[in-house]
Formats: sequence, structure tokens, C-alpha cells
Amino acid sequence: MVSSVAVVAGLGNGSGTGAAAARLFAKEGYTVALVSRGSESLNTLANSINASGGKADTFPVKAYDAEEVAAAFTAIEARFPSSEYAITVAIFNAGHGVWKPFLQVTPEDVRESSKVNIEASFAFARAAILAFQKNQPTTATGAKGTLIFTGATASLRGNVLTSAFASGKFALRALSQSLAKEFGKEDIHVAHAIIDGGIATNNERGNRNTPPSGPVENPKPAALLSPESIATSYLYLVNQDRSSWTWELDLRPAHEKW
Ligand SMILES: *[C@@H]1O[C@H](CO)[C@@H](O)[C@H](O)[C@H]1NC(C)=O
Ligand SMILES: *[C@@H]1O[C@H](CO)[C@@H](O)[C@H](O)[C@H]1NC(C)=O
Repeated sequence: MVSSVAVVAGLGNGSGTGAAAARLFAKEGYTVALVSRGSESLNTLANSINASGGKADTFPVKAYDAEEVAAAFTAIEARFPSSEYAITVAIFNAGHGVWKPFLQVTPEDVRESSKVNIEASFAFARAAILAFQKNQPTTATGAKGTLIFTGATASLRGNVLTSAFASGKFALRALSQSLAKEFGKEDIHVAHAIIDGGIATNNERGNRNTPPSGPVENPKPAALLSPESIATSYLYLVNQDRSSWTWELDLRPAHEKW
């Protein structure tokens, strides 16, 4: 019996969506392969998953670009050979945000947004799909694998400070839709999750369900998304059977004004 591996890329400091997804999939019995910059917080996260009975291994990257992402996947496949493991979930949660008025956006900002949001996501998708193609569809869902991209409000709407960021996020959405259409018929599920709001990290998390208070421009926890709750939706996507797959879902807190 092979064990399932979930690859999660983009873990930041271990307090957001990527880390919550890693913890949840580990709890569900997946071996988690963690890809991120900053090996210190990566190790902290892997240790805490291991300590709570899960299995996590780290695959640090120096940057999010095609070469680093491809190399991380090669290392993941070497660590988890297909004789014993099947990579069945891949979550691309990395992103590069630029919030600047257009005339202040530099070529370097554009290059970095393109590198993380486009180049790295293409490389991640390619490696994930090649890995999924080796799998048999699971009896529970009929899927060979699920590839999830984390989107944002900027995936659908450009705004005064987001020309470089939204361009990258629009591209990520376009990639996910193209892949969903191309690989659905191979029983590979590709989904895009629009996270339409601020995400509660650390101490804001505990009281996220309290009534909102304070000014609209400085929202208190009830107007923020909980990373654990986003992760629950990712698990829901993975557990969908192929007769009714979601390509895109959008998530926002009850008190978000939209
Ligand atoms: C982690 O990053 C988030 C988002 O950037 C930030 O809100 C939070 O304060 C950071 N936490 C730590 C412990 O650095
Ligand atoms: C977590 O445990 C796995 C074995 O299940 C091991 O390979 C890995 O190195 C551990 N990670 C850390 C950061 O201790």
C-alpha cells in the first residue's frame, strides 16, 4: 500500500495558508513535502508536524524560479520513490506581492512578480502533473491527483496599487484554468482558490469569530479569513469525486465588504 504525499509550496513564516494546509494534510495521513524559502521557519514547521504525529520533510529553495522548483521536485521524488509513495496533492501557495503606484513599479518588480507568480507556478504545475500521471486514479474520487493554486482578490481585479501583483495573479488563474481543461480528461483535478480578503495570522486567529469592531479600514478578526478554514476548503477540493469537480472557488469572511 503506497502512502500519499502532499507537496506544499509557499509557507512564509509558518503562520498562514500554506502551513495550515500542511498541518491539515499531515493530520489526514498524508506525508507532507514542504517547499519554501527560509529554511529556519521551514524546519520549525516540519518539527511541529512531526512532533504532533505527522510526517513532514523539508525541501528549501533559494528562490521561486523554474530551476529551483524543478530541483525541489526531483529531490521530493528521490525521497519518496513511487514504489512506496504517490504524490497525489500539490498546492502552489507561493506568491510575490507588489503594492505600488504604477509609476513607481520598477522592471525588477515586474521581473520578480513574473518569476514567482508565473515562472515558478508553471514549473510547479509541470512537475506535479508529471508525477500525477504515474498514479492510478483513487477509488474514492477517481482522481490521479489534485493541483491547487492559491489566488487572491487581485486574481480578478486590478487596482490602483496592484498593477504588477494583479498581472501575476491573473496569469496564475489563466494557467489554472488552462490546466483544468487540458488535464481533467486525464483525471487530474486542477483548482484555483480566490482568497478574497485578509488572512488572520498568529494572535488574531483565536477570536476570529467574534463580532467585528473598529473602523472598516482596520478590520478586526471577524473580517479576516482563518488559514485553518482555508485549508479545510483545500481538503474539500481534494476529496471531491470527479463527477463534480470545482475548478474555482472563492472564499471570504462573513463580514468582508465586497
Ligand atoms: C508572519 O507573517 C505574517 C504575514 O506577513 C505576519 O502578519 C505575522 O506577524 C508574521 N509572524 C511572525 C511570527 O513573524
Ligand atoms: C520529520 O520526520 C521525518 C520522518 O518521518 C524526517 O525525515 C524529517 O527529517 C523530520 N523533519 C524534521 C524537521 O525533523
